[in-house]
Amino acid sequence: MNPFIALTGIDKRFGGIHAIEGIDFDVFSGEVHALVGENGAGKSTLMRVIGGGHQPDAGTIHVEGREMTFRDPHASLAEGIAVIHQETALAPDLSIAENVFLGAMPAVIDWRTLREKARVLIASLGFDIDPAALVEHMSAAQCQVIEIAKALSGSLKLLVLDEPTAALAPSDADRLLDIVRGLRSRGVGIVYISHRLEEVFAIADRITVLKDGKRVDTVKPADITRDELIRKMVGRPLSVLFPERHAALGDEILKVSNLTRGDAVQNVSFTLRAGEVVGLGGLIGSGRTEVARLIFGADLRDSGTIELKQKPLHVRSPMAAVRAGIGFVPEDRKGQGAVLSMPIRVNATLAALRSVSGPLGFLTFGRERDYVKKLMESLRIKARSMDADVSTLSGGNQQKVVLAKWFHADGDLIILDEPTRGVDVGAKAEIYTLINQLAERGKAVLVISSEHQELMGLCDRILVMGEGRIRGQLEPHDYSEERILSLSLQRDADEPAALAH
Ligand SMILES: Nc1ncnc2c1ncn2[C@@H]1O[C@H](COP(=O)(O)OP(=O)(O)OP(=O)(O)O)[C@@H](O)[C@H]1O
Ligand SMILES: [Mg+2]
Repeated sequence: MNPFIALTGIDKRFGGIHAIEGIDFDVFSGEVHALVGENGAGKSTLMRVIGGGHQPDAGTIHVEGREMTFRDPHASLAEGIAVIHQETALAPDLSIAENVFLGAMPAVIDWRTLREKARVLIASLGFDIDPAALVEHMSAAQCQVIEIAKALSGSLKLLVLDEPTAALAPSDADRLLDIVRGLRSRGVGIVYISHRLEEVFAIADRITVLKDGKRVDTVKPADITRDELIRKMVGRPLSVLFPERHAALGDEILKVSNLTRGDAVQNVSFTLRAGEVVGLGGLIGSGRTEVARLIFGADLRDSGTIELKQKPLHVRSPMAAVRAGIGFVPEDRKGQGAVLSMPIRVNATLAALRSVSGPLGFLTFGRERDYVKKLMESLRIKARSMDADVSTLSGGNQQKVVLAKWFHADGDLIILDEPTRGVDVGAKAEIYTLINQLAERGKAVLVISSEHQELMGLCDRILVMGEGRIRGQLEPHDYSEERILSLSLQRDADEPAALAH
């Protein structure tokens, strides 16, 4: 049997960067071929070549035995190839039905039929979403489903998913994997890119590892262990993911009492001490990010009090929060985290101007460059130089720049919302070490995460939220995935216990 698609000797450069180099890669119909590798390894670039978004500098593409050139995404779509990119490409102000049929709008639009078709497509994926609703009101999981429905609206033969579960809660990620299995059994070939290796082992028929733009190996999951795979990805064994914690707790830094805003946050109370790393767990939408936004002054509370170092905190803007000594790394790096059109150097020092300023408060050029160089090395940020625009970095490297911005910021409290989303396994370990160092330097750290392993590996305590309330607190001796999950699903006593969805 011939593969559906076969790429041979694919090369792509961006200026001085050799993004991918002599790559051979193929996918059979009815197969899930996973693509793994560190941030900047070339995964998304290779997928853009398949999807017609980039033209390779060298190499050939064969589809069902015929040599093809994809001049643009329409050309690959015409062959039944759909790519769902790392960042969603849906139009937020159009309805779901409009988005699903965007590429295939008939000349005369019959809205009733279109909406019904969209509903049937979405239902075939096991979801019930109103096709007339606007995309801007959809969750990350619903957006993924709509993107897949959109791909299915043509005749789909190959689906490329670039980190589809990065922004999804674990239960939604499971449903997405079910969709992938369903498509595979219908004979669709799938390329699956993910940094979550458990998923890769659960779903892949074959795994290809890229490193520094080259193909390292292609293996069957049964023939390799997780550790061996990581070694191929990062080029070194990674023995400890989580650093050992030696928490020396100091004074109380943050005290939140009865914090309330609408239904989103209700009567939330907790404290954080210097040197402490506290996790905020719970499902997406449980109010975790909202709590962070209230502390950071991005939203205003209805009631309740916040004290920073025993003094009432009344910040009404993020700028005021930064001046008060609070750092916040938001989950949505594109929307609020990084200034994509500015160099890494400028982004990285935005929050730490004091550390790079001379005695009179002037920014000293040499000091700034040294500082940024050190940060880029410690986080392994892969880029042409520190003067490269953030928009030219790979997804995970953009995330690292956002983190770099805060890691050496002055201040007492730092809030990290999903700090390792989209970050490769090697860089994860670096980020955990840096978080640990922040705590050792006496900062209080609040970590919001949907990855239970991360919370348990990193935190001195975990507060679990559900429906805007704190459902409970776990200490290391009672950490388990089941405990976190059951607390996050717990309802008020007078409500029947039922799962979401
Ligand atoms: N448009 C571009 N201009 C300049 N450089 C680019 C561009 N797109 C990608 N690169 C570079 O090519 C390399 C590969 O990037 P790519 O996005 O393919 O990585 P990736 O494996 O998808 O990483 P991640 O896991 O972080 O998403 C990186 O060094 C990146 O900076
Ligand atoms: Mg990528």
